Amino acid sequence: MTSNEIAELFPAEISGEWIVVASAADLQPGTTLIVRIAERNLRLQRSMDGHLSAQLSAASDRPEPRIHLQTAYSFIWFCFGAPNKPLFLLPEYAQTDGRIVECGSFGVRTSPLRAVENFLDMGHFPYVHTDILGAEPRTEVNAYRIELRETVDELWAIDCRFHQPKAAAGAATAQETDYTYRVVSPFNVILYKSPPAPHTGNDVICLFIQPLAEQQLRAHLLMVLKDDTSTMSGMIAFQQLIFGQDKPILENHIPLLLPLIGQSEKPARADAMSMAYRRWLLAKNWTYGTQRFAQNSKAA
Ligand SMILES: [Fe+2]
Repeated sequence: MTSNEIAELFPAEISGEWIVVASAADLQPGTTLIVRIAERNLRLQRSMDGHLSAQLSAASDRPEPRIHLQTAYSFIWFCFGAPNKPLFLLPEYAQTDGRIVECGSFGVRTSPLRAVENFLDMGHFPYVHTDILGAEPRTEVNAYRIELRETVDELWAIDCRFHQPKAAAGAATAQETDYTYRVVSPFNVILYKSPPAPHTGNDVICLFIQPLAEQQLRAHLLMVLKDDTSTMSGMIAFQQLIFGQDKPILENHIPLLLPLIGQSEKPARADAMSMAYRRWLLAKNWTYGTQRFAQNSKAA
């Protein structure tokens, strides 16, 4: 298959990427589901013996051999063409003292990259998630470290810390929360944060982005929480409240596409991870979901 043939089906950046397309619970054995990826419909099928297959709706009824599918971490994952790398590892999903919380998915009208970038930004906590993930006057984002882990091509932010009035559904008091961000691919990001006392280790919050178009996405949220008191609906409601606060902010960004070059958004220390994310995308020659005219304006 030539690169031109791939480009006819999906944007170049999409091919080779593992992309979430549905909750595994939405595709029971013997059923079919139509999902959307980058302005294309895909028909997913799970046979009675559990085997997954997919056809591009516009093509024949035969399974599309260039599509790879797998079920992992409560979701169905799609990759068109040869994978750039294996699906990321999430060993915490199998840990026995963590509760798996599937928080559902949300449609958002913005660039898939904006959703990831917003997830990486601690600076908005006091203003958008007031009295939950942050509160004035404790608004400062302290310096943290950024690592590009080249062997797995993941971008990490470590030693992040933020004062949080209510860090999780099960939090009874305010706490200083340690954060570690792990961007495993341009559309998938995992957050490790210290759980409310008396628990140790990490709560895990995953944001998996299904790109529907360059300015339209579905955000799938999964958590693995150290919490033995909250109800499942209470933990889901907490995260849905947080995301419900982010959604209007995301949809009112100007521009919706993510600028990779140019001075339309000035970097600040609080934005260090955002800047690293943009540089990482730029190094990949990534354009899907980005504001490409910014490159033109720089050249002009
Ligand atoms: Fe937020």
